[in-house]
Parts: sequence; structure tokens; C-alpha cells
Amino acid sequence: MAVDLLLGLQWGDEGKGKIVDVLTTSYDIIARFQGGPNAGHTLEFEGNKHVLHTIPSGIFHPKAVNLIGNGVVIDPVIFMKEIEALEPYSIDFSKKLLISKKAHLILPTHRLLDAASEASKGKAKIGSTLKGIGPTYMDKTGRNGIRVGDILASNWEDRYRRLTLKHLNILKSYNISIEYDLKDLEDSYFKSIEALRKFELVDSEQYLIDAQENGSKILAEGAQGSLLDIDFGTYPFVTSSTTTAAGACTGLGVAPNKIKEVFGIFKAYVTRVGSGPFPTELFDNDGKKMAKVGNEFGSTTGRERRCGWIDLVALKYCININGVTQLIMMKGDVLSGFNKIKVCTAYQTKSGRIDYFPYDIASQGIKPIFEELPGWQEDLTGITDLKEFPVNFNNYISYLEKTLKTPIKIVSVGPDRKQTIFR
Ligand code: GDP
Ligand code: IMO
Ligand code: MG
Repeated sequence: MAVDLLLGLQWGDEGKGKIVDVLTTSYDIIARFQGGPNAGHTLEFEGNKHVLHTIPSGIFHPKAVNLIGNGVVIDPVIFMKEIEALEPYSIDFSKKLLISKKAHLILPTHRLLDAASEASKGKAKIGSTLKGIGPTYMDKTGRNGIRVGDILASNWEDRYRRLTLKHLNILKSYNISIEYDLKDLEDSYFKSIEALRKFELVDSEQYLIDAQENGSKILAEGAQGSLLDIDFGTYPFVTSSTTTAAGACTGLGVAPNKIKEVFGIFKAYVTRVGSGPFPTELFDNDGKKMAKVGNEFGSTTGRERRCGWIDLVALKYCININGVTQLIMMKGDVLSGFNKIKVCTAYQTKSGRIDYFPYDIASQGIKPIFEELPGWQEDLTGITDLKEFPVNFNNYISYLEKTLKTPIKIVSVGPDRKQTIFR
């Protein structure tokens, strides 16, 4: 049985949470494969709004099993807060939530290191969510990390102490004063570890192998977006995991030839939170309008998101790197009321026009080259059928499909589960 995959094609916050929730009715297992509490996946249904950080977005459905894969990094304190926030929904986590023993743990000192690293960079800071993501993945690849399965061993606390001591020594070398009360941080950390032990900690890759053999339908849920990928994103302004399709293989133990549909999700425009290059960024009223109508504030940090017109050079690049088979377009409703819609089809560089995504988009003085399409004035948020789409909205969708050579199969016209139209 095949595994499908859903991932963001921009700088994150494309609406992955909403669509995973919508698609969950067709799947038995929803599996997160990378990232950690830097993610904020928003779901809206029946008047509820809920933001998930570590827990997969299929958790509100009665049947689906939700699995946190080995590629994810977990902060037990944030995880337990998420669990508490789900209390009103009476979810039986013993049946519905599995956690890989191979997932790595974020320690309190990983967060301190993140803060010190960012502070030391001054203006060149990445704009990290400061959840300890970078330092935790560094310890993973540096072969020093602590995994979820380790908390079941009797020597777990020794290992914790050793790594923490190492971190405190590194912290000193930064020459930056970070205010913290380790005792206080550790009190809540150890309480959360105690609580984490009671969850289903499993050999998740074997669970998924068995599930595939038994014919279960699996959807892998990505976090962040392809332009934040550690290899293919706008380095160094990226996150520390593989956010692209390959990350689902390493982050879950799914073989590449088992992946069938690759759903690539994008906004009808572009947003970015944090620092880093953004060729189509708007600093004018159009950008402000997108931010206001789209309510573009980070789901995890509350920071304002930068907004700009859609970038088809970047989108094509991400479609190719991920092998996207179907596209999902979000937030078309936010563009209602613009007379003209701009689309970036190439970049002007110092050495001429290019139509591919180059090595370093920051230092090459890239300027977007736009084409213009007529806008639409109608409000899209009440639309329930494809036939109700305004002509110019349909033209925008067709233009994108033709240029990107990939079908747009789902169009979202509002944050609610119901505001989703299949084509
Ligand atoms: P994720 O990280 O990819 O899951 O996305 P976020 O949840 O961080 O950000 C997407 C934001 O857009 C959330 O506030 C959603 O509720 C909202 N949203 C999702 N789809 C739509 C849509 O089609 N229209 C509008 N207006 N909002 C949407
Ligand atoms: P979801 O899953 C948007 C950004 C941060 C920063 C950079 C590195 O909700 O789409 P990190 O905390 O990983 O050290 O931050 O990546 N970033 C995100 N931006 N959505 C996310 O997740 C993000 N996760 C990280 O703003 O620029
Ligand atoms: Mg988000």
C-alpha cells in the first residue's frame, strides 16, 4: 500500500494543518516526519480554532492514528501543553497517538543555545522561533542527542546531566548574557518527561511497515516549507531539517518507491516569517492589505508575516525537488479586491534574466520580473462549488496550472474545514 505525502512549497504557513485535517477522512494514519514545535498548524472547524505544534493534524478525527516520527524533535514541556489544550476533546491518546522512540528530545539548554546563537548574530540573525530546533538537530547529527526511547533507560538522567553540562560550557563561550533559571526550567522539564513516559513510545518505522503490509492508508505531514529546507532552502535562513519529500523517507522510514501522491501546498501569494531573502516581498499597501485580510501573524510566535506576490520561479523549483503530483492552493480569498494580480515569472540578476532558483538569492541583487493578470472583486469565502468561482479567479488557477505544469486539485477559500473545494 502506498504512502501519500503533503508538504509546504513556500516558507511555511501555507495551510498544511487545515488540509491535513480535511484529508484525514481518507487515511488511517497521519504521520509527522520532521520539524518540532517551531511549527504551528492551524485547524478550524465547528467554531473551534486550534493550533498544533508537535501533534499531527489528524488528531481530531475519530479513527485515524497520529504518529510522531523519528525525524521530529520534541520538547516535552510544549508537547504536554498541547496535550492539555486537547483535553476538551476527550481524545483517547493511548489509541490515537504514537511517538517514535527514535525522535530526538529538545532539552532546556538547547533553547538557551538557540537564544545565544541568535543574539550573537545581531542583525544577521535567522529569526528562529527560539524553540531549540537548530541545537537539537546539531546534537542529533553530531551523535550526542538524547532520544525519546532513552527516557525509559535507568541511566537517562546521567545522560541528560552530561549533555546539559556540555551545553552550559558552550553557552559560556558565547560571551552573551542569557537570563535563565535552570532549576525552574528543569522542574517543569522533568515533570513533562514523567508524563511523556506514559504515552505510546514505539518503533514507529516497524509500525509503518506493518501498516503498509496491512493495507493502511498513510499520509505523511510535513512542517515548515521547501524554501526553509536545510539543503534546498534559502540557506542560512532556513530551519535545520529536511522539509522536502526526502525528509519523509528519513523521518519515518518510508522507502522512496512507496510514496505515491505528493501534495504540494502553496498560498495564492507568499509569506515569510523571520529573516532572509524574499524576492517578491511587498513594502507597500498591497503587502499590508494581504497581511491584514490574510491575518498573517505567526501561529507559533505571533510575529507579523512578510507578504508578497506569488513567485513561480521558486514554486517550480520546489515542485521539481519534491516531485509534486498535485497542487493545493490556499487563501485565494485574500486576493479578492485587487485590480491586478502580479505573478513573478523570472528574476533579473546583475548578469541578466534567469528563470531558475539560483545558489544564493540574497547576494545576487535579484529583482522579480512580473506578469499581470486581471483580479477579481467577488468575496470567495462563501463559495461551496467550483461553478461559483469568478471568471478571473478561474483564469488565475488555469494560468498557474499551465505555467507550473501540475494540476491544482484543491482550492481553499477560508480557514474553516468546510471552505475547501475539490476540483
Ligand atoms: P501551516 O503551518 O501550514 O499549517 O499554516 P498556519 O496554520 O501556520 O497558517 C495558515 C493560516 O491561514 C491559519 O491561520 C489558517 O487558519 C489560515 N487559512 C488556511 N487556509 C485559509 C484560506 O484558504 N483562507 C484564509 N483566509 N485563511 C486560511
Ligand atoms: P510551519 O510548520 C513558518 C522559520 C522561522 C525562521 C526559520 C528558522 O508552521 O509552516 P527555527 O525555529 O526552525 O530555528 O527557525 O524558519 N520557521 C517557520 N516559518 N512556518 C513554520 O512552520 C516555521 N518553522 C520555522 O521563522 O525564519
Ligand atoms: Mg504554521
